[in-house]
Amino acid sequence: MSNAIVTIDNLHKSYGEREVLKGIDLAVNQGEVVCIIGPSGSGKSTLLRCVNQLETTTSGRITVLGEDITDPDLDIDALRARVGMVFQQFNLFNHMTVLENCTMAQRKVLRRSKGEATKIALKNLELVGLGDRGNATPAQLSGGQQQRVAIARALSMNPDIMLFDEPTSALDPELVGDVLKVMRSLAQQGMTMMVVTHEMAFARDVADRVIFMDQGVVVEEGNAAQVITAPQHERTQEFLKRVLNPTGDAE
Ligand SMILES: Nc1ncnc2c1ncn2[C@@H]1O[C@H](COP(=O)(O)OP(=O)(O)O)[C@@H](O)[C@H]1O
Ligand SMILES: [Mg+2]
Repeated sequence: MSNAIVTIDNLHKSYGEREVLKGIDLAVNQGEVVCIIGPSGSGKSTLLRCVNQLETTTSGRITVLGEDITDPDLDIDALRARVGMVFQQFNLFNHMTVLENCTMAQRKVLRRSKGEATKIALKNLELVGLGDRGNATPAQLSGGQQQRVAIARALSMNPDIMLFDEPTSALDPELVGDVLKVMRSLAQQGMTMMVVTHEMAFARDVADRVIFMDQGVVVEEGNAAQVITAPQHERTQEFLKRVLNPTGDAE
């Protein structure tokens, strides 16, 4: 408990009449990588979006480093600096250079000088293998490179935890590996991460824990190898069968 970065207690979220998170309990400890898997519409994105308050919660409690982030007086900018988020669709500013994308929030939210922000951005661009692309615009980069810029941008805020929402789902297959490699290296460096992904090999190899969600609840959780290779619940088994063998062909 003491080294929990994020705790989620009995989280409920409704959109109008429709309840999409039905009592989620989850703690993510320092340095832990938690992968969240589950069918489309099960509430995975909503869960991540509640953790950095892109969505307000309906009830329940979420803390980040002990602070209740559902408090209406919360400083949202400060929270977003501590909780980095990487989306399926990169969400870079296309009219800015790579470097500007990676320095803007540092300067506005953390009030870093241009020099300091640039130094930190370049260090993180280096880390994702794009140290020489600072002056490019997003349109000049491949999707995989754009996603790595988005990771560098989030890291430049020195977050306590990184949230990834299907970071490779919009990429051409040959570009997926470079992004996963960066994420794997972040995990090895001790970054605390929550990752929604359909990349089962990544989840099996990198996650400390895998959570299977369906219809707004956590159906099953456990260590990665166990949940992915020997799931206990029928719904988990069915989901994995579909994901690992989408055409239903005999092996
Ligand atoms: N802004 C919204 N307004 C209304 N319904 C939403 C909104 N966002 C998501 N939903 C619904 O909530 C459910 C869970 O969505 P989501 O969290 O995106 O699932 P997942 O990421 O697992 O595919 C879905 O049925 C979706 O249609
Ligand atoms: Mg989603």
